[in-house]
Amino acid sequence: MRKLTVSGASPYEILIDAQILEKSGEYVRRVTGAEKALIITDTNVAPLYAQTVKASLLENGFKVDTFVFPAGEASKNLDTVSGMIKAMCEAELGRGDIAVALGGGVVGDMAGFASAIYLRGIDFVQIPTTLLSQVDSSVGGKTGCDLSFGKNLIGAFHNPKLVLIDTNTIKTLPARYKNDGIGEIIKYGLIKSEKLFSQLLACQNIDDILTDVIFTCVDIKRQVVENDFTEKGERMLLNFGHTIGHAIEKAQNFEGLAHGEAVGVGMLIITKAAESAGLTQKGTAKQIENILTKFSLPTKFEGQIKDLIEIMLYDKKRRGDTLNLVLAKKIGSSFVEKMPIKDINSFLAEAD
Ligand SMILES: NC(=O)c1ccc[n+]([C@@H]2O[C@H](COP(=O)([O-])OP(=O)(O)OC[C@H]3O[C@@H](n4cnc5c(N)ncnc54)[C@H](O)[C@@H]3O)[C@@H](O)[C@H]2O)c1
Ligand SMILES: [Zn+2]
Repeated sequence: MRKLTVSGASPYEILIDAQILEKSGEYVRRVTGAEKALIITDTNVAPLYAQTVKASLLENGFKVDTFVFPAGEASKNLDTVSGMIKAMCEAELGRGDIAVALGGGVVGDMAGFASAIYLRGIDFVQIPTTLLSQVDSSVGGKTGCDLSFGKNLIGAFHNPKLVLIDTNTIKTLPARYKNDGIGEIIKYGLIKSEKLFSQLLACQNIDDILTDVIFTCVDIKRQVVENDFTEKGERMLLNFGHTIGHAIEKAQNFEGLAHGEAVGVGMLIITKAAESAGLTQKGTAKQIENILTKFSLPTKFEGQIKDLIEIMLYDKKRRGDTLNLVLAKKIGSSFVEKMPIKDINSFLAEAD
């Protein structure tokens, strides 16, 4: 068992182990005196893991209800959040009770958001079951859902009481979603850890080092969110590859590259440009291309960079007439460059 504690106004532990689901009730019991627990999960995860978690919660004295919604990003909307809140009402959860988010980032983000607003905030536990949610979305307290105007446009900062990462759940994850997580894992190496990057390059099969890799990524995210909970400074580094990645996803109507794949291509494009501008150590882009290829992740955007630029300029993270671009200085080290909008075209033209 590996363990981390995120400190701050509402500290919480992250436990990482194989077969943690079987004991989830015991760990949840340690952080709450709740009488009732509501498991929130989706239609793919429910048949795989809900029963195990429910049994363990029951064994530890919780009265348990379960809310299941259709799997997928298309469900990440206010109607589903409203369904969760209705389920909380029906289960008669009180201020001292707890929600248990069992699933990927879609489940975690929305269950966290419903917990943040129901009765002005109740406790919740994250049990992330995708690689992406284990290394990224379950830690840091960002919760929310999409609106028809765009992704993640509504939400709240609400920390979980506990994060339980069962590495065994990755065994049932479809390959596409595993790649998604690997894209983010490579990102952590690039922004903060040369050691992680080398470890990824050297390994035969990522499954052999998965617990260690998840621990390293979560530990990096922990440090970053401890330093900058509300994303005013260092937390922006986690967006490496994301400005272009999001633009790629949008350009393809979210039906093309998966998020982590798009982020991979985004990291490569921006690094090529930054290398040409003399902001990144020479050879870095080649190393990024090599690692993406090693993990069978795409390295190209089949389209025009100018279309991506247009989309990027509507990014909600944009402030004034500059764009905050996260760049790698070299492998394992990154920084935020405030780039005037007028310079974006010529900067990115170098990546073509
Ligand atoms: N809060 C944050 O800081 C943060 C950070 C990154 C991403 N996100 C959000 O996370 C979401 C993406 O997360 P995701 O990729 O986990 O998506 P997801 O929750 O949709 O999960 C992907 C798919 O895998 C299925 N699944 C989950 N666990 C499984 C398992 N163990 N075995 C088999 N199938 C399983 C799900 O049902 C779904 O079909 C996006 O909405 C994104 O905005 C949030
Ligand atoms: Zn991401």
